[in-house]
Amino acid sequence: MGQLDGRTALITGGALGIGLAVAQRFAAEGARVILADRNGEGAREAAAAIGENARAVTMDISSEASVAAGFAEAEAAGWAPDVVVANAGVQLFGQDAPIADLELEVWQRTIDVNLTGAFLTVKYAVRTMLALGGGSIILTGSPTAVNGEGKDFTAYSASKAGMHGLGRTVAAAYADRGIRVNTVQPAYTETPLVAAITDDPEARAAIVSRIPIGRAGTPADVAGIMVYLASDDGAFATGATFQVDGGMTSL
Ligand SMILES: NC(=O)c1ccc[n+]([C@@H]2O[C@H](COP(=O)([O-])OP(=O)(O)OC[C@H]3O[C@@H](n4cnc5c(N)ncnc54)[C@H](O)[C@@H]3O)[C@@H](O)[C@H]2O)c1
Repeated sequence: MGQLDGRTALITGGALGIGLAVAQRFAAEGARVILADRNGEGAREAAAAIGENARAVTMDISSEASVAAGFAEAEAAGWAPDVVVANAGVQLFGQDAPIADLELEVWQRTIDVNLTGAFLTVKYAVRTMLALGGGSIILTGSPTAVNGEGKDFTAYSASKAGMHGLGRTVAAAYADRGIRVNTVQPAYTETPLVAAITDDPEARAAIVSRIPIGRAGTPADVAGIMVYLASDDGAFATGATFQVDGGMTSL
């Protein structure tokens, strides 16, 4: 028996990286999974590789029309999600910068996806879950939201701080209606997002040297805690932040 038998999960950013690992693990635990990504082709290929319990939806989380259409498509197919992972995000390496050097356009593009995108994903997730009588929402946050980790990434760090605040606010507003909202806070996790670090041996060694467990995170490291939060094991967890970072921010 899987820990997520009977659940239906929608995962934004499901075509790659952390979102893909979460989709694969949720499916292995018995859930039906919807891979929602602006890269519709990548999401379709990844869903086909998972099998019959997976479907893809092309969704740009920064567009309300696109998010609304994606949820409507899932519901029309009988796949209304009782688990939603608001995970898609961008980090504009080479453009995001300390504030004196940060262009408004770079700030805006980051906020549009990471913060407005989380708002829209969670808004439609809550609407769906109110109709279902409850559910679990999981946000992919970041240590840059809570300390100085992201000093060179002003827009990214601010967008993630907004996400953490959004998670707590929504958790408080809907706790009495069976909707739980939690944030998972990975640190350096090797995915295409951080290729600029992974591909630079010096930068990689510098960041790994700051992780007490002594290695980089993997997408699979993040998936495990999300299974817990999506399942009944996490039934009493809401409004919380779960660090999965090899001790980077807590030791
Ligand atoms: N990798 C890390 O070190 C790390 C650390 C902490 C937090 N995070 C967060 O984890 C999440 C996933 O990151 P990742 O490392 O897997 O990234 P990734 O770049 O490997 O994958 C991100 C996925 O999101 C999709 N996406 C981007 N913009 C989108 C949009 N507007 N609408 C829909 N889909 C969109 C991309 O197409 C891609 O499939 C992000 O929110 C990121 O900020 C990552």
